[in-house]
Amino acid sequence: MASFELRPLSDAIGVEVIGIDLREPLKPDVVKAIEQAWYDHVIVLVRDQDLNLDQQHAYAANFGKVAVRSQSSATEHEKKTSNTVMLITNVRENGNPIGTLPDGEMMFHSDTPYYEKPLKATLLYAIDIPSRGGNTLFSNSYKAAETLPEDLKARIGNRKALHIYDYGNQNKTDDSYDKSVHPHFAHPVFRRHPETGRSALFVSELMTEEILGVSPKESKELLQMLFEHQRKQEFVYEHKWRPGDILMWDNRCSVHARTDFPSDERRMLRRITLEDEHPVLAGEPPTPETAAP
Ligand code: SIN
Repeated sequence: MASFELRPLSDAIGVEVIGIDLREPLKPDVVKAIEQAWYDHVIVLVRDQDLNLDQQHAYAANFGKVAVRSQSSATEHEKKTSNTVMLITNVRENGNPIGTLPDGEMMFHSDTPYYEKPLKATLLYAIDIPSRGGNTLFSNSYKAAETLPEDLKARIGNRKALHIYDYGNQNKTDDSYDKSVHPHFAHPVFRRHPETGRSALFVSELMTEEILGVSPKESKELLQMLFEHQRKQEFVYEHKWRPGDILMWDNRCSVHARTDFPSDERRMLRRITLEDEHPVLAGEPPTPETAAP
């Protein structure tokens, strides 16, 4: 019998698992219960953990295949650490960041939607956290989809959107993009989750550039409405990190963003990800019958 507690993080999204020690292998019934909680709540937090990389890998591997990261965008420090790791940090050596996404605010996004097979999950483990800011916001993409006005759902229907990411940008400053330089892919705007069967809104302000099959003007107008909707407080949980937190989110049904933080204070989180064993599936626009209670 599983001997831990599940405590929701907010009404919007997220659950905390209390009473487990991730330095030890988890029993199969515990893994099953955490996985179900993850499907139900989209993000799962475990606090007060003291994990080396092997232990973080072992926890992640309970839920899927740990992804090997493209080494072309990795720093020397990251390469030396492991081919699976991204260090999300502002720490610099000789003036150069030793990791990735070093400074400041980031717009809402999911991880790698610009590939045909985006990452299923991301596990971020907090090592050093500044005294203020650097919080991660999570928005529930099921709830965003289910609460869209009916006319907007009808306008989107079964359309696809183009995702592209310019790695120089943590915040988009203009609408231009160059498909010849940056990876890009089109996915259904309503995405069906392979495990829960629910439809999620699969767009984000940082990475989605176009709704296909409509005029550029309409595409822009639709995307602005979707981004505004996705940012609504009722769908969002703001996570204030503590060292020792490990948080796993589902990229198929959530987007995340980051608040600003003092650049002269150290922030270091160790990120690994899981491959998706399923292809991206098209979803139907949700109806009151298909929405979860
Ligand atoms: C990320 O987008 O993966 C980074 C989130 C964060 O730094 O809080």
